Amino acid sequence: MNLIMKMLAAPATVLALWAVSAQAATNDDIAKRLAPVGQVCVTGQECKGMEVVASVGGGDAKTPDSVIAKHCNACHGTGLLGAPKVGDAAAWGERSKKEGGIDGLLAKAISGINAMPPKGTCADCTDADLKAAIEKMSGLK
Ligand code: HEC
Repeated sequence: MNLIMKMLAAPATVLALWAVSAQAATNDDIAKRLAPVGQVCVTGQECKGMEVVASVGGGDAKTPDSVIAKHCNACHGTGLLGAPKVGDAAAWGERSKKEGGIDGLLAKAISGINAMPPKGTCADCTDADLKAAIEKMSGLK
């Protein structure tokens, strides 16, 4: 074999060894590789050998304060775009009178009004979440 032939043969040998070792896996090895990385354990189910890391939905409970801080305060904190300010009882009271109470305000908050975006940008807020935030910002009940 001349030198050039040897140089060509060497990588081919390495490749052949790699291919053989890759196929050496048993069915057990393959099953292990295909096993799911994690399993879901739902609250209320018995999940042997699994720690219950968090209950479903438990980590994302909304409070009036968290909704206001995350969504409403951007405008209502400073009165941006003419938004009634947090704690400005007079401004909220006037609006409440015009809309027929807190439920009227809630309806406008859900649909949006002028520069006020629908649901105040809190798309996953429930009506109750929004109502609680409005009550807190306005001081109305
Ligand atoms: C992008 C700014 C912005 C954000 C964010 C925002 N608002 Fe407003 N909001 C406004 C403006 C501006 C008005 C006044 C609209 C008008 O009367 O022209 C308003 C008015 C309101 C009113 C009174 C509606 C009425 O009928 O007079 C309520 C209630 C309200 N917002 C609730 C909320 C709640 C709850 C959030 C948070 C979940 C929120 N807003 C987030 C800008 C905002």
